Amino acid sequence: MKILIVGGGGREHALAWKLKQDDPAAEIIAAPGNPGIAAIGRCVDVKATDVEALFALAKRERVTFTVIGPEAPLSLGIVDRFRDAGLPVFGPTKAAARIETSKRFAKELMLAANVPTASARTFTTIPEAKAEVRRLGAPVVVKASGIAAGKGVIVAMSIAEADAAIDDMLDAKVFGDAGAEVLVEEYMQGEELSLFALTDGQNVLTMLAAQDHKRIGDGDTGPNTGGMGAYTPVSLATPGLLATVTRRILTPTLEAMRAQGCTFTGLLYAGLMLTEDGPKVVEFNCRFGDPETQAILPMLNSSLLVPMRAIAEGGSIRSLSNFSWKRGAAVTTVVAAEGYPGPVRSGDVIALPELPSDVSIFHAGTSRNDAGELVTAGGRVFAVTAVADSLAEAQARSRNVADAVQFRGRQLRRDIGWRELARQR
Ligand code: AMP
Ligand code: GLY
Repeated sequence: MKILIVGGGGREHALAWKLKQDDPAAEIIAAPGNPGIAAIGRCVDVKATDVEALFALAKRERVTFTVIGPEAPLSLGIVDRFRDAGLPVFGPTKAAARIETSKRFAKELMLAANVPTASARTFTTIPEAKAEVRRLGAPVVVKASGIAAGKGVIVAMSIAEADAAIDDMLDAKVFGDAGAEVLVEEYMQGEELSLFALTDGQNVLTMLAAQDHKRIGDGDTGPNTGGMGAYTPVSLATPGLLATVTRRILTPTLEAMRAQGCTFTGLLYAGLMLTEDGPKVVEFNCRFGDPETQAILPMLNSSLLVPMRAIAEGGSIRSLSNFSWKRGAAVTTVVAAEGYPGPVRSGDVIALPELPSDVSIFHAGTSRNDAGELVTAGGRVFAVTAVADSLAEAQARSRNVADAVQFRGRQLRRDIGWRELARQR
């Protein structure tokens, strides 16, 4: 079996690692991959957004199936291109990926399907958007409708802050076309949860719930990032809550997608807010989350390959049993470069520590210099995941290894899982 993985971040390294575990004889090819993936597979220097080159690669290599990691190629229609030619591929079509790439599409779908979410209205003019802000009052949320690399969401604690966000998006166009249309949204209060569901369009296999840590600093302070760490499981995600989410959110959302003629297959990521009135959707993503995937997959005992391949080949997962999970907990600590989430320096030489068993390092922003040394090459450089009997132990092990990764100016959070640890006290 040959599996092509599109992407080159920590998420893709974790996917490659798990699929290789599921079938040690499988040949993994990654495009573009990274030095971590190169240790378990073959990396080909093709960009994750070069749909035609990826298509040619999959054909030339006669891969069994292809897994798409990031949202960018999905938004470019890579799945449509592969499917039209009969190549098995895991991920949603361009039309189905709108559940992530167009916040407006996602909101309208949820409204039509009666899926609980914050109420929101879309605007293209400044006075109307500002009037809505005044109608709702602060706190209030202003969002760019398109994809803005995770930065297009302003949770405004005051009217002035919301006004400034609207001016930035509609007047100064700081997010370009992604912000040509803004959503003004009701503020939801509660804890956030990431829930991943593998789906063939109709049936779902849900994974363990995780919590991401988006802020750069300990205690959830400082600017937002792509995610500085994650842990799983989350005790708030009781079997009862998951049943509610499946019944009230996942199933009706998938049904609405089918009804609109854009069946969603692949991985549906529900970003949830656990409010006083029950779970509500903050956003959907059309792909695995990063860094949650690096925490969740090391906890997975059963095969990921079997349901992924079935979905990629257009089959059903109805008869498959639920995923089975390890006991205990996983903590993922991200090691980021100096300056992150702002501009970062690349090319700093990295020294990696010896790894204890049940600790894994997933590469993200790394590469090799001319001398063959491992060097930094991006904002988030590694994700270090430890699996242990308790969350406290997993946190300590993950942090210790992350702390032992050496390069100039490295940053990490030392408190991943703190909300759950506080609940356990
Ligand atoms: P998003 O890009 O939609 O995931 O939003 C980024 C972050 O903004 C989320 O993870 C939440 O922390 C926050 N957020 C988004 N929408 C809301 C909302 N309606 N109420 C409160 N917080 C929100
Ligand atoms: N961890 C957040 C995301 O992948 O979008």
